[in-house]
Amino acid sequence: MRIGVFCSGGDAPGMNPCLRAVVRSAINEGHEVVGIRHGYQGLIDENFYTNPEGRPLMGLRTVSNLSKRGGTMLHSSRSEEFRTEAGQKKAADVLKKHKIEALIPIGGDGTFHGAVALARHWDGRIIGCPGTIDNDLIGTDYTIGFATAVHTAVDALDKLRDTAESHERMFLVEVMGRHSGYIGLYTALAGGAEVAAIPETETNVEQIVQQLQVLKARGKKSIMVVVSEGDEAGGAEVLNNQLKEAGCPFQTRLLTLGHLQRGGSPVPDDRILASRLGEFAVQAIIEGETGMMAGEVNHEMILTSFQDTYAAHKPVPDELIRLLGTLSS
Ligand code: F6P
Repeated sequence: MRIGVFCSGGDAPGMNPCLRAVVRSAINEGHEVVGIRHGYQGLIDENFYTNPEGRPLMGLRTVSNLSKRGGTMLHSSRSEEFRTEAGQKKAADVLKKHKIEALIPIGGDGTFHGAVALARHWDGRIIGCPGTIDNDLIGTDYTIGFATAVHTAVDALDKLRDTAESHERMFLVEVMGRHSGYIGLYTALAGGAEVAAIPETETNVEQIVQQLQVLKARGKKSIMVVVSEGDEAGGAEVLNNQLKEAGCPFQTRLLTLGHLQRGGSPVPDDRILASRLGEFAVQAIIEGETGMMAGEVNHEMILTSFQDTYAAHKPVPDELIRLLGTLSS
């Protein structure tokens, strides 16, 4: 079989080890792998990785040293053209022209919406791997890149805590996650933050100010507030203004971590998840599966239909919200 692989949407640390796993697993099973550069846009443009012999094929050595590399060697994109029916037909024609029989897209919900659209014009097999820092897909406990993004955000929190203590200040740290509070909640818990403002819980400004007053009276010298970019109250800047108006008892400073969370060498958990899911996706294709995302739930590898991965909001664990409340005292 000739299997195409690409990364799409926001890049995530761990996409590279996933590519490595796909390429090596497929070749070891006797198949060919075509690397498509720049996601769906690259597919439309026939922008393939070419090997030193000038052929559009990836080899075992193409993916050497990828375990530790952030970003994606095949690059990524958010393609406007592929959102159109004409773009999708064009992509399907390219797949037929190059005799690609199966595809492994690595990305998030946008990527899987794209896979469903593509399947309307092309009858090859498609098995996706969840590559997004957001951890917002149903069908896998964790997505590739989430653990590294949290690691980076916690490192930032640890450093900010030092300067916050020195100056007896409060920091509002905005983290990514689009519509999901996963990065916010995990960062807050691991970084010992006092407050997490996430989309899954109501952000009540008056209550937060009361909590801050109690903490100040108990002798707290510094405060960390983690704010998800998708929080219903707005980002860190909006929340900061609201807290000030409501009588926040601490002097505040802000930091938006932004795309910093998408970069860097993947942590071991992401490398292992990426390696396992990459191999599992290849196996699923060999077994004739299609229209599914490879995931890991309770340490078991499972397949979930693309539609089910994004049909509902993936809830953050209530238990962790409760624990954060207890420990932030
Ligand atoms: O989906 C991954 C993500 O990093 C989100 O957390 C964030 O909202 C978005 O992508 C940012 O997208 P872009 O890189 O296109 O600005």
